[in-house]
Amino acid sequence: MRFAMRWRRSLVLGLAAAVFCAGSAFAQNVSLAERIQLCASCHGEDGSSRIEKIPSLAGQPEFRVLVQLILMREGVRKVETMEAIVKDMKDDEMDALAKHFAKLPPKPSGEPIDASLVRRGAVLAKQRNCVSCHLPTLAGQQQIPRLAKQRVDYLIQALKEFRDSKRSGSDTLMNGAVAGLSDADLTALAHYAASR
Ligand code: HEC
Ligand code: HEC
Repeated sequence: MRFAMRWRRSLVLGLAAAVFCAGSAFAQNVSLAERIQLCASCHGEDGSSRIEKIPSLAGQPEFRVLVQLILMREGVRKVETMEAIVKDMKDDEMDALAKHFAKLPPKPSGEPIDASLVRRGAVLAKQRNCVSCHLPTLAGQQQIPRLAKQRVDYLIQALKEFRDSKRSGSDTLMNGAVAGLSDADLTALAHYAASR
């Protein structure tokens, strides 16, 4: 009786291990190149997005991309369109993707940039000292994203989310930076940042 139970238990464990191995073997069959191709369908062929409100990834700090992918996989930052994509991804696959996008040269999105908004945005950015975290080039660092050459529409949306405390799982460092700014101020900041 005891023997039978032990045998059943090891059979179950064995089966679970077999299923697990088959699962990970399947996941590993998705090559990095295939993953990148999938990302490209939304984030652009060269990591520079041509789609409204989808951010460019080219030239983003490596650590920034890695952390956001992990946060999305864990459901801390909720991005519906990306849920299924990150669900089964391993840390080392995310790491390889982060390294890939960090190396690509950022390019302007081609959206119209308004020179007077850029001037107004520059004044606001100075008052709020955006460069203290995002760096003088606005290229970002560590977990802090690149703003330079990012899409204008995405920047406006992101800034509103921070001001209105609507971005799930976000770092609170940003909330103070945009507190009390109007929609027009945020639009000006977005034009300024995208123009860098
Ligand atoms: C179906 C479209 C789609 C696909 C495919 C996709 N993404 Fe995204 N991704 C989005 C959208 C939309 C957002 C912006 C979410 C938001 O508004 O906060 C996003 C955001 C991100 C961000 C956060 C950027 C930032 O600056 O905060 C990263 C990093 C990212 N995606 C990486 C990837 C990677 C890597 C892949 C491929 C494995 C991928 N995405 C595939 C739609 C997609
Ligand atoms: C105290 C440091 C700090 C300051 C000052 C700061 N930021 Fe940020 N910013 C961050 C951090 C950290 C994040 C990442 C937040 C997250 O995704 O959780 C961020 C994210 C952003 C994003 C989101 C970009 C993306 O890819 O999703 C935008 C846009 C942004 N900042 C614009 C600005 C602007 C404009 C200013 C000045 C008005 C500013 N920031 C000042 C730290 C800062």
